[in-house]
Amino acid sequence: MHSEVKKVVLAYSGGLDTSIIIPWLKENYHCEVIAVTGHVGQDSELPGLEEKALQSGASKIYIEDLREEFIRDYIYPMLKAGAIYENRYLLGSALSRPLIAKRQVEIAEQEGADALAHGCTGKGNDQVRFELTYKAMNPKLTVISPWREWDIKSREDAIAYANAHGVPVTQTKEKIYSNDANLWHRSSEGGILEDPWKEPPKDMFEYVTVPENAPDTPEYIEIDFQAGVPVGIDSRQMSPIDLMTELNKRAAANGIGVVDMVENRLVGIKSRGVYETPGGTLLHIAHQEIESLVLEAAVLHFKHTVAVRYAELVYYGQWFSQLKKSLDHFVNATQAHVTGTARIKMYKGSAIAVGRKSPFSLYREDYATFGADDVYNQKDAEGFINCFGLPLKVRAMLNLDGTGSSDYDKPDYSKFKRD
Ligand code: ARG
Repeated sequence: MHSEVKKVVLAYSGGLDTSIIIPWLKENYHCEVIAVTGHVGQDSELPGLEEKALQSGASKIYIEDLREEFIRDYIYPMLKAGAIYENRYLLGSALSRPLIAKRQVEIAEQEGADALAHGCTGKGNDQVRFELTYKAMNPKLTVISPWREWDIKSREDAIAYANAHGVPVTQTKEKIYSNDANLWHRSSEGGILEDPWKEPPKDMFEYVTVPENAPDTPEYIEIDFQAGVPVGIDSRQMSPIDLMTELNKRAAANGIGVVDMVENRLVGIKSRGVYETPGGTLLHIAHQEIESLVLEAAVLHFKHTVAVRYAELVYYGQWFSQLKKSLDHFVNATQAHVTGTARIKMYKGSAIAVGRKSPFSLYREDYATFGADDVYNQKDAEGFINCFGLPLKVRAMLNLDGTGSSDYDKPDYSKFKRD
């Protein structure tokens, strides 16, 4: 009943679910299994991974350090676009899937494998993101999604299956949440979070210090950007990995970057998620701040509409779509002058921009000042307001003339003076 496959490349995390997939594939497809782990910054999940995969029956494991590529080619384009899903989710999991899946396909081709597998459940977004990337990269490979096939339904089933097949079960403490972590974020779902009224317990957080335990004195941080991309902190130039690491550390210590929300999954389900995105939160604030100085209003406003669509594309797994590529061209064209520095004050969970500067700033103190100036003629505003307000005035006059009605119910025109 199963399709004929000889060699499967599995996206492997080392968790219980992906570990039991290895013997399950061998048992049900009689195939060789090669594990691939994309290292995108989930540091705590990596120790012992190789032994575990081999003990579970994989013939080989690739642990690919994708951190640099993740930041440069995934995080930065998304940051430049200002993409945030449903106004809150900074897209950390959504963003890592196309990269991991792309590497998986490359390894499958290199290994002469004929199939790909992943451990995503059939209820989530991740299955869509993995498989859309598989299709974009190599539609000839067979895709196996065990969660949509097998009858392992609970954690108990999974442990029983692991024990029966010699898969080491290392987790001693009961796993309460479904987590996904990388150098951009950590997500928590499930467990008590399934009740959207219940506050997440403090001990659920692993990246961010909860605000009530953060220091009582504010900390300032300056982030330097060049052409839309962060290049340094406090005037120190840094590599992307060092920069992310330091931002995460300092923001997390100040309780920054927690989002608790109910989101709309692509598969139709509403789900509750809690996200920790400390450094990413600072980067979005800082980037936006420099844009506010250097972009013309029309570009800035249009870019906001692009950001909404861009975020949907990322969330929906359409990273390699033509639309996403085209939007990148637009976004990049807007970023040439997004160079400068933002200064942010961090204090017990809040991050507030308190300073911004750029050599390309369009902000002119001589125009903006409330004090005396000699560049702006206030009389110019009168004619502008007359033209800009003309449609409103015409509509209101219809009512006065009795030739039509305005949008207002019972306007009081008693004090109105006809021109
Ligand atoms: N709800 C988020 C998203 O769809 C997070 C998913 C996390 N994935 C996971 N396997 N725990 O992007």
